[in-house]
Amino acid sequence: MTWFGRDLVTARGLGRDDIEEILREADSFSSIAREKRSTDTLKGKVVATLFFEPSTRTRFSFQTAAMRLGARRIGFGDDSVTSTVKGETLSDTIKVIDACADCIVIRHPLEGAAQAAANVSEAPVINAGDGANQHPTQALLDLYTIRKEKGTIDGLKILMLGDLKYGRTVHSLAYALSQFDDVELLFHSPPALRMPEQITNELRGQIKMRELSSFDLSQADVVYATRIQKERFADPEEYRKYSYHIGTDELATMKTDAILMHPFPRVGEIAEEVDADPRAAYFRQEANGICVRMAVLNKILSRKG
Ligand code: CP
Repeated sequence: MTWFGRDLVTARGLGRDDIEEILREADSFSSIAREKRSTDTLKGKVVATLFFEPSTRTRFSFQTAAMRLGARRIGFGDDSVTSTVKGETLSDTIKVIDACADCIVIRHPLEGAAQAAANVSEAPVINAGDGANQHPTQALLDLYTIRKEKGTIDGLKILMLGDLKYGRTVHSLAYALSQFDDVELLFHSPPALRMPEQITNELRGQIKMRELSSFDLSQADVVYATRIQKERFADPEEYRKYSYHIGTDELATMKTDAILMHPFPRVGEIAEEVDADPRAAYFRQEANGICVRMAVLNKILSRKG
């Protein structure tokens, strides 16, 4: 399927060819991103970044990606400055932005909000995270990071830890990894925060999956830790009982050539003392977000992309 003009609302349904195309394009932009240079590939285009929910990495890396490609940017990082506070519907807001921008990047607390935006927008819509549902560009940058760090994605054992129920990054990553060969997903989470059955049922037969009964980091080539999503609980205090910790003792149980990833923000899951270990890949993972989002924007907005 061509990327030009396409919505990117979910990682579900992305084929390996689609993913490989983005990873190759990201490679071609990596030196521009790393050296903080710019191109004029998307000169004249306007990218709207609409963040109805807080973000640091996704918002700034999309904005940086757009600007390094020569596009202009409009948008907000706090919907309290918009007519949403007067009661305007998401649909009406999107129609207004659609008349202004060539592409809409949206983060929203409600599952399905990105698809709802795509349904009323002629401009392509990119989901930058919708509630506990999906975060497809995070999955693409995670795959880019895994390949860059490990040399391959095929054949790896990838352990997902933490809040697998509400963590949208692991939902998108599980779908994306199902397109690779001989990958095994290992899960470990509190019973109340397991990977949703709807996802495991759908992926059964497409990818090997195994629940670990103990906190065992020793089998994995990639340990993918996630934050317990405090904001998704009806009782915000409930999340405290699910906290876990990776410090130097836990790191010592990992394979010497494994990597430790986390989509961030971290709120105590990984001790800062771990950061100096070469296996701690999470800051490199975040930096990869820029060239991957440059790739996504360029593929979607440029006929030549
Ligand atoms: N990984 C991620 O989505 O981070 P932000 O919430 O800071 O964008």
